[in-house]
Amino acid sequence: MSGRLVIVSNRVAPPQEGYSAAGGLAVGIFDALNKAGGLWFGWSGEVGAEAGAVKLDVRGNITYATTALSRKDYDQYYRGFSNATLWPAFHYRHDLARYDRQEYAGYLRVNDWLARRLIPLLRPNDLIWAHDYHLIPFAAALRNAGSPHPMGFFLHIPFPATEILRTIPPHAALIEALCQYDVLGFQTRTDLQAFTDYIGRRAPGTVNRSGVVHAHGRTLKAAVYPIGVYPEAIAEAAQRYAKRRPVTSLRAYLQHRKLIISVDRLDYSKGLIERFLAFERLLQNAPELHGNVTFVQIAPPTRTDVQAYQRIRHTLEGEAGRINGRFAQLNWTPIRYLNRKYERNVLMALFRAAHIGYVTPLRDGMNLVAKEYVAAQDPNDPGVLVLSQFAGAADELTDALLVNPFDLAQMTDALQTALSMPLEQRQARYRAMMQPLHSKNLSVWLNSFLQDLQRAAALRA
Ligand code: G6P
Repeated sequence: MSGRLVIVSNRVAPPQEGYSAAGGLAVGIFDALNKAGGLWFGWSGEVGAEAGAVKLDVRGNITYATTALSRKDYDQYYRGFSNATLWPAFHYRHDLARYDRQEYAGYLRVNDWLARRLIPLLRPNDLIWAHDYHLIPFAAALRNAGSPHPMGFFLHIPFPATEILRTIPPHAALIEALCQYDVLGFQTRTDLQAFTDYIGRRAPGTVNRSGVVHAHGRTLKAAVYPIGVYPEAIAEAAQRYAKRRPVTSLRAYLQHRKLIISVDRLDYSKGLIERFLAFERLLQNAPELHGNVTFVQIAPPTRTDVQAYQRIRHTLEGEAGRINGRFAQLNWTPIRYLNRKYERNVLMALFRAAHIGYVTPLRDGMNLVAKEYVAAQDPNDPGVLVLSQFAGAADELTDALLVNPFDLAQMTDALQTALSMPLEQRQARYRAMMQPLHSKNLSVWLNSFLQDLQRAAALRA
């Protein structure tokens, strides 16, 4: 690659724990940047009375450049417009979205401010790659601050259908700003199609079959780059961590019991309540499973100062308690609900120990847990993935048991089918799912996006 790679994202994986479960974005970028090397610029995760200076930290291949946010910036840009307006609407939950003009002004202000902080760190041949919904106006901000660099943007979350997008009051300005990038990347064809529809009907503009966009006086490229994982590294970690403490003690508890596992940030988009209710139905319909199956839900709380997150946490605690109260026996708890993080390698070993990976978001950009669960399995005795059709991963993992998370009876049936699936069928499904995991692994994501960005750079030059 000619030119240094500069990654910009709101969340930067902390250098010392780059490998812990921090959400798909940080995990994917960390793995990718670890290979390619470069600069990673973004928020340090700290909130202070005043916005901070940029702190540099070199670790191996990666230079981390991070800065704190002021309380006001955090409230308006992160907690407000990013996570109480864009996040719910982009996940088709515009019923949960709110709009506040001041927060939107804060969102634009922080994008400008970050752009001005990045400018002194840039070199002439850098390729700039911004990530996710926090940074939609970042290219425009960087251009205003004088940067001539090629700039790409990858959206890790879904791109909503036009009629949903229109519920966000400044939608037109947001999409115009998005068109200041040179390359736009989406997780799935559905997302690209939604973007294309919006451009055609609202921008106005055109997107041709090769993804060339003409809109707002600009020419750019839009394409699908599904984010992947490194399946070999996951399989290796899953085996290496099998003898570690939390894994061995869970195995000791399980004995003959079958394990169903889910790992998600505690987010309303993940379909956690529906998932609990479908598990409850399973226990109700199949008394022979009592004492013989355990569902472990790992759900570290996130964005705890956003109201919708407080509500889901409260509801879920109630449901877990109610279902356990209804079915538990002295020596068996049906749902083990844990509000904490685990080291990523430990999670891979837990995935390998689980008979079912239960991944049923109501809406998800990709969902790397689905891919990690499959990659972590023992090829000789693999578990079964029960996957929502509304996760981006469902486009590739068509040999999972695909479910509609709004259909509880169907989810219950899928759990039952998975629990009794014969070995041969499990192996066949596993082999089929491993194909796209290999052919579209994380390097393919990284290289294909960067190749398109370099082409755009050549055109700009
Ligand atoms: C998702 C988003 C990321 C975000 C992550 C964790 O994966 O796509 O942009 O970083 O969740 O959320 P947080 O708000 O803690 O950064």
